[in-house]
Amino acid sequence: MAKATEALEREHKVIQKAVAVMAQLVDQLELRHAVKPDLLRDLLQFMRVFSDQCHHGKEESYFFPYLESKGVPSTGCPLSALKGEHAKSRQLMSDLNSAAAGYIADSEKGRLTLIQVLQSLVTLYPAHIWKEDYLLFPMAEKLLSEDDHRLLLEQFAIAEEGLGTNAHQSFEALAEDLTQRIDQCPQCARMVPSR
Ligand SMILES: [Fe+2]
Ligand SMILES: [Fe+2]
Repeated sequence: MAKATEALEREHKVIQKAVAVMAQLVDQLELRHAVKPDLLRDLLQFMRVFSDQCHHGKEESYFFPYLESKGVPSTGCPLSALKGEHAKSRQLMSDLNSAAAGYIADSEKGRLTLIQVLQSLVTLYPAHIWKEDYLLFPMAEKLLSEDDHRLLLEQFAIAEEGLGTNAHQSFEALAEDLTQRIDQCPQCARMVPSR
């Protein structure tokens, strides 16, 4: 049986690829390695559309309200805390948009701000995903029936229709592509491995 929780968990794994790219970007920027504008733009697009609009959208519009309808309190832990983290990530996405534009316009001036915003996202996302994977989803498993999962998966599919044909697969491919491109930093390739 397909489960809504497993669908969200699979998306977490895709998002974690972009988080790993952001962590590598922090390292490269700290070493003053040049980061290509198109990589920043594609990363921003992935984070805004796949992570926020698509994934957080499914959670906020369907999954969390469904759990509330099953008796999970909308205030306090865990739902209110998770919604607060979505709001924080949305703010950081807006900050990333400005910081990436600032870096593209003047890399020396914009470098530190871009590092700070990326580092904030690298700190926020894994902790948020951990809470959902290890606390929220196991709790949801106790509340959701087979029919509930089916209904939620139907709602998730409707949410994805707004993103266009094959959008999900395209964003999964983009996360993998970003992983390959961040590994191709010519300056990192010249560095002597530490061991
Ligand atoms: Fe979430
Ligand atoms: Fe999530």
